[in-house]
Amino acid sequence: MYSFLTVSNWPDYELIDSGNFEKLERFGDFVLARPEPQAIWDKSLSENEWKNLAQAIFKREKGSTERGQWMLKKEMAEQWFINYKYQDLKLKFRLGLSSFKHVGLFPEQDPNWKFIYDQCKTIQNPKVLNLFAYTGGASLAARGAGAQVTHVDSVKQVNFWARENMEASGLKDIRWIVEDAMTFVRREVKRGNKYHGIILDPPAYGRGPNGEKWQLEDELNEMLKLCAELLDPKQNFLVINLYSLGFSALILENLMNQTFNFPKKQQEFGEIYLQDRNLRKLPLGTFFRFSTTIPAKL
Ligand SMILES: C[S@@+](CC[C@H](N)C(=O)[O-])C[C@H]1O[C@@H](n2cnc3c(N)ncnc32)[C@H](O)[C@@H]1O
Repeated sequence: MYSFLTVSNWPDYELIDSGNFEKLERFGDFVLARPEPQAIWDKSLSENEWKNLAQAIFKREKGSTERGQWMLKKEMAEQWFINYKYQDLKLKFRLGLSSFKHVGLFPEQDPNWKFIYDQCKTIQNPKVLNLFAYTGGASLAARGAGAQVTHVDSVKQVNFWARENMEASGLKDIRWIVEDAMTFVRREVKRGNKYHGIILDPPAYGRGPNGEKWQLEDELNEMLKLCAELLDPKQNFLVINLYSLGFSALILENLMNQTFNFPKKQQEFGEIYLQDRNLRKLPLGTFFRFSTTIPAKL
């Protein structure tokens, strides 16, 4: 079933406005203005209102699509925490201003974190694998629901950041793996290991710690076939999220139905977006998810 997912009931996050290739967001106590290539419409608030509201504004370096600098007001903190609650899950995320406009969290993943938490609550002693796991939002949602979690990311600093989020959230015992996702998955298949839940949020392009190349359009098909061998045959769920290359969710639907034989009624796929105060919907990726335990919301 094609559907749209967005953030709900999260007092510590808000997309205030978007437009002119920028987005204005509040993360806890601080408001940030950052580039957003998809926001090609006009801003609803004036430039002055943006300047007054924002404590930090990210300005791109000339000729660079990613790198740039933050212009900070004196009250702006370099690092700060925000809270996240869902059912009895209480998480704390440490945020920080990186030189790539990122702050260490993708808030649009909230609906997937809730899905993951709900899945894990329905499975006894769930084992969950989170690939391309970044600062661990999905890992903490699963661990907070009692799952055994394996968190795989190729960047050591990113895993340290995820561990910091785990400790700040009063959680422990996540298995941290600094490795190329494809190399890890291939070895797990050889070992015959199984997981009840698999989460993937691959970038368009990435590198493993030993220079292993990840190219989404070239590797995704094989990655999914390997993941199919890692899934527990009885009770399982999978969430895949794509945010690059403008891949349509229909590509995911084809790939997933080619590789996994899930009943249609257990499938949900479509677009993830954030909505601003003027009800503009900012698209931020596509997703496909299914579960053997909880039917898709029809
Ligand atoms: C955009 S992030 C994923 C976001 C994450 N799912 C979240 O919501 O917090 C992509 C992650 O993939 C990691 N990565 C890139 N290439 C990789 C590879 N070959 N193997 C494992 N991780 C990789 C990056 O370090 C980055 O943390």
